Amino acid sequence: MNHCIILAGGIGSRMNLDIPKQYYRVNGIPIIMYSINKFAHSGLIDSIVIVLANEWRGFMEECLSGEQYPCKIHYAEAGKSRQHSVWNGLNIIKRYAMDGDIVLVHDAVRPYFPISNISEGIDACKEYDAALPVIPVKDATYQSSNGVIISSILPRHELYSGQSPECFAFQKFYQAHGRFSDEELSTIRGCAELAFRANLSIKLIPGCEQNFKLTTIEDMKAFELSVNKTFS
Ligand code: CTP
Repeated sequence: MNHCIILAGGIGSRMNLDIPKQYYRVNGIPIIMYSINKFAHSGLIDSIVIVLANEWRGFMEECLSGEQYPCKIHYAEAGKSRQHSVWNGLNIIKRYAMDGDIVLVHDAVRPYFPISNISEGIDACKEYDAALPVIPVKDATYQSSNGVIISSILPRHELYSGQSPECFAFQKFYQAHGRFSDEELSTIRGCAELAFRANLSIKLIPGCEQNFKLTTIEDMKAFELSVNKTFS
């Protein structure tokens, strides 16, 4: 079986809206619903766990009340960091997961992810422990240890930006995750970093430029513009 964790436990402080950005409506649809609909209708996902703050549970249930999905929907409580939220989601899936199951982890604020990332991630996890969608870094890259002068030049052709959905062999990822302390989880900047530090093999799969994370108000305006163009 394939499971999906949708992360919606953040507050969107850098977006500065009066609600968390994943619940903001674009073209009448809350941002999080763009992702839920894609996973639920992909035909590849058996269960979805939405990780969110308790106060938004009623809103989410309302959004989903008219939907007929061929997969189960579960909820998990948001954690104090993104990685703690992932762990809470994994612990819900652990109750019904079986050997050979796969889990995808996705940011609710990446509504434009390519649907092909679901099947490509699942396929890659038959050979590797994990799969990460990436795009090559385009600009020349420099490192500065003090933010004033360049301390080294980084090899751009070896550098990639990571996106979601990330995909993992469930049991291996769950065990790896459980080895990190509560404190360590706060310092980890993504599931791929955790998997790498736990020596799991991670296959790079093609991401796409449009799958940017809605982080600032400029990102939201760009997303609104592209949705309005699609529907006009
Ligand atoms: N997230 C989560 N639990 C947290 C923090 C973040 O589930 N404790 C989720 C967010 O809801 C988002 C994704 O992780 O879907 C990526 O995080 P980010 O863009 O950093 O979202 P926020 O933490 O909401 O934004 P900010 O850092 O600006 O406050």
